[in-house]
Amino acid sequence: MPRVFNFSAGPAMLPTEVLEASAKALLDYQGKGFGIAECSHRGKEFDGVVDEAIARCKALLGVGDSHDVLFLQGGATQLFSLIPMQFAAGKTVDYVTTGEWGKKAAGAAKEVGAKVNIVATSEASNFDHTPAQSAWKLTPDAGYLHVCSNETVHGHRLVDLPKHDNLIVDASSEFMARPHPMDRIALIYGGAQKNLGPSGLVLAVVRKDLYARIPEKGLPKLFNFKAQAENKSMINTPPTFGIYILLEVFRWLERQGGLAKMEQINAAKAKLIYDAVDGSGGYYVGTIADKAQRSHMNVTFKLPSEEKTDLFVKEAAKLGMVALKGYRTVGGIRASIYNAMPTEGCAALAKFMKDFQAKNG
Ligand SMILES: Cc1ncc(COP(=O)(O)O)c(C=O)c1O
Repeated sequence: MPRVFNFSAGPAMLPTEVLEASAKALLDYQGKGFGIAECSHRGKEFDGVVDEAIARCKALLGVGDSHDVLFLQGGATQLFSLIPMQFAAGKTVDYVTTGEWGKKAAGAAKEVGAKVNIVATSEASNFDHTPAQSAWKLTPDAGYLHVCSNETVHGHRLVDLPKHDNLIVDASSEFMARPHPMDRIALIYGGAQKNLGPSGLVLAVVRKDLYARIPEKGLPKLFNFKAQAENKSMINTPPTFGIYILLEVFRWLERQGGLAKMEQINAAKAKLIYDAVDGSGGYYVGTIADKAQRSHMNVTFKLPSEEKTDLFVKEAAKLGMVALKGYRTVGGIRASIYNAMPTEGCAALAKFMKDFQAKNG
């Protein structure tokens, strides 16, 4: 069956090879007569899946014993609350709010009673950039610094992660799309539904020394990351099929050559579309103030009018390029081009942009 180029921001497209292998395992796992979603999470088949997923995740990220790999539920949004509940340790916690997601994370921390310091924001200009790190107003001895490394809605990224003893990164929309400097990351997390698998699953990689901060009382065991690590994320029934798909994605990433290779591929894919924006003589206008911060995952730009934007989305869909409409607070077009988007998809979109301008410019 032909598959369209799906530019959805998430849940997003997955590699066809991953879907095929997962579909096979769903019907019959290794010739056992049952599928991987039909066996106990306490059995040896699923235990093997979890062990392999943890090992491959660590290998891809290049981390050893310093960190644990957790497969959690409740979305990245749930972690917005669980992180300050466990790791603030009564200290002021620093947040960068340069997009909808950074702002939501900071709001959730306030909601659970954390003392939140906003170190940098770009809300006044509708989150169109991240201020230079030299201008961030960091709290000395903060509990942690929380950043969102790629702002999905607006389409910009932190090119270099800050250096901080306790850096926490929401990498939901760029997880494993490039190498992550794990030697300076205390906790990295993200919903799987963009780069890693289906929704309903959160990948979190936690530096173990953070566990010392977990309050002894008041935190349900299910929310306790140390308890989750000790139970291989199986205190209760985990999203087994989602974890299986994640494992297939890890295998696929290794076959592509790992995260450094993915970074190269993703940069080249994004360039195809940004070149079409920049070469349009102003017909298409990028929404990010600083071109150097443009996201490699969520490419955002505007057309001269809403009418033209709607026509663009409709005409593109006729050619098999779907889900291009921008987020409501930003408008315009958003092309999400996560790991699974092939280079051909970005090339097809860039060509369509030129043709559309020639016809409607
Ligand atoms: C950067 C970022 N953080 C957090 C979230 C929230 O994720 P979830 O819907 O899994 O809670 C999203 C969702 O799009 C996101 O893009």
